[in-house]
Amino acid sequence: MLKRTFNINGALKTVIVDPEATLGDVLRKQLMLTGTKVSCDDGHCGACSVIVDGKLTLACITKVNRVPENAKILTIEGIGQPNNLHVIQKAMMAHGAAQCGFCTPGFVVSTKALLEKNPKPTREEVRAWFTQHHNACRCTGYKPIVDAVMDAAAVLRGEKKVEDLEFKMPADGRIWGSKYPRPTAEQKVTGTLDYGQDLGLKMPSGTLHLALVQAKVSHANILSIDTSEAEKMPGVFKVVTHKDVLGKNRITGLITFPTNKGDGWDRPILCGTKVFQYGDAIAIVCADTPEQAKAAAEKV
Ligand code: FES
Ligand code: FES
Repeated sequence: MLKRTFNINGALKTVIVDPEATLGDVLRKQLMLTGTKVSCDDGHCGACSVIVDGKLTLACITKVNRVPENAKILTIEGIGQPNNLHVIQKAMMAHGAAQCGFCTPGFVVSTKALLEKNPKPTREEVRAWFTQHHNACRCTGYKPIVDAVMDAAAVLRGEKKVEDLEFKMPADGRIWGSKYPRPTAEQKVTGTLDYGQDLGLKMPSGTLHLALVQAKVSHANILSIDTSEAEKMPGVFKVVTHKDVLGKNRITGLITFPTNKGDGWDRPILCGTKVFQYGDAIAIVCADTPEQAKAAAEKV
C-alpha cells in the first residue's frame, strides 16, 4: 500500500491506497467524491475528467502512483456546489447542456481547463478541445454544450452578465416553450446526482454485487446455460437465469419502432432460448464483490 497526501479541492487529504488503483477509484470509492463519473473506464469518454496540477487528466486511466505527492487535484466538487454554482455550470443549465447528465461533470471540468488556457475560444476551438480531450456526449449533439461554453467564457470576460444566464419565470408562470431548466439540471452540472454506480457505493455493507453475462454473438439459439462452474466460485451467492424470472420474462420498448410487427412483448429480460443481438442479457451473477461477480460471469 502507498501513503499519499494530495490537495483535493483546496483541502489536504492523506490516503492509504493500492498503488495500482486508479485516481478515479480513489476519488470515488475512498474519498466518496462521486461527482467524478466513470463511464467507459478506458480513457475514451472524458466523464472522469479532473484537473491535476493544472493539467486536464482522465482519472480512470491514471494510476494513483503516478500522481505526485502534494498534487493539486480539482474535481467537479471543487468547481461549484448546488448553492454556489460556477458560471460554467449556470451556462450548462441555461442551455440544456445536461440531458442524462452522466457526461456533464466531465464537460464542466474540461471547460474550466479550456477557459483557463484560452479565455476567448472560437466555437471550432471549443469542439477541437473536447475532441482532443475525449469528452463525449451521447445525448445533446454537442451544440448546447458549445453554446454554454461560449456564454460562460463571455461572462468570465465581463462581456455578459451572469444574470443573463439565469432563467426568469414568465409573468404568467407558463413554462411551455421556454428555456425552463430541467429539475435535475443543478444536480447534473454539479455531479451530485447519484446514478447506479454511485448508489452502489452508498449501499449498506454486505450488499451483493451483480455482473451480467452478455451474449458475445449477434444471433444464436441457446441449447443450455451451464452455471455450475460459476456457482462454485468464491463469493458467488447465486446465478440468476431466465428460470428465476417471475411472470412472462418479457420486456416492452421495441413497440415504439414503427417497423415492429409484434405486440411489443417479444424480447426476454434474460434470454432463455435465443440470442437476439450482441450484448443480450443471459444471466446475472450475484457475489460479494464486483471482482468476484465479474470473474464468475466469465464462467457461465
Ligand atoms: S471514464 Fe474515463 S475516459 Fe471514460
Ligand atoms: S448528457 Fe447524456 S451523455 Fe451527455
